[in-house]
Amino acid sequence: MDLEKQPEIVNLHTQVKAYLLINPPTLGHGYNHLCKVAQNAYRLAIDNDANEKVAYIAGLLHDIYRPAKGEGGREVHEDVCAEIAPSILESSGLTNVIDEVVAVIRNHDEDIISGVGTVLQQILSVADKSELSLDRIMAYGWASNQHLTAEGKIPKYSNFQKLIEDFDAYRAKANAVFSRIAIKGLEEAVRAYDKAYNDLHKFAEYEKKGRAEWNTIMNLAVQREVNKEKALLQDGIVSGNTV
Ligand SMILES: [Fe+2]
Ligand SMILES: [Fe+2]
Repeated sequence: MDLEKQPEIVNLHTQVKAYLLINPPTLGHGYNHLCKVAQNAYRLAIDNDANEKVAYIAGLLHDIYRPAKGEGGREVHEDVCAEIAPSILESSGLTNVIDEVVAVIRNHDEDIISGVGTVLQQILSVADKSELSLDRIMAYGWASNQHLTAEGKIPKYSNFQKLIEDFDAYRAKANAVFSRIAIKGLEEAVRAYDKAYNDLHKFAEYEKKGRAEWNTIMNLAVQREVNKEKALLQDGIVSGNTV
């Protein structure tokens, strides 16, 4: 992707990685997620005649603040990301896009739910939700367990059935977002959610029959996410062909 060769975008990646090394994100929401969402957003922007550079940058910064503090592996983060973004953009020489990028990443879901999302906000939401996978869901579950254990509380997720209960509620919220989105490419996000839903329910069925062991499957998913993140932070920009 030519955009990723522009010096200010290379700078931006350097700044993002430096920020993440000092402020580690929760598993499943690291540099790998940011790069993939940026690339999805870039593609969707081209297909929808929107500004692909703003879309890419918004994707790269949309979850810059994601510490594992929420009980479900999730915490309110949109406003904090919008506050952090300007200084990173300034240090990268991208002052000219600050206002547009901040407008896109602030409330990147909620505006759409209330029906007032801009095309770029819709693009970011689809780019983000297209990136869902069973491994990432399990990574959130693991992060939530770690957080609760560190606080002396009982971990929330001890089997697939527990994870499904929360995921189904999260999926209902995503479906409310999807019903308000009109951009080209929405089907990618719907497909990702359907696949994650089917995968989770499949493993829950195996679990009931004693054919799937939660801890083993979760640990493998977590290890895959950890390895991906480590490799990317060492290798630099993820090329569009390798993700
Ligand atoms: Fe987010
Ligand atoms: Fe995200």
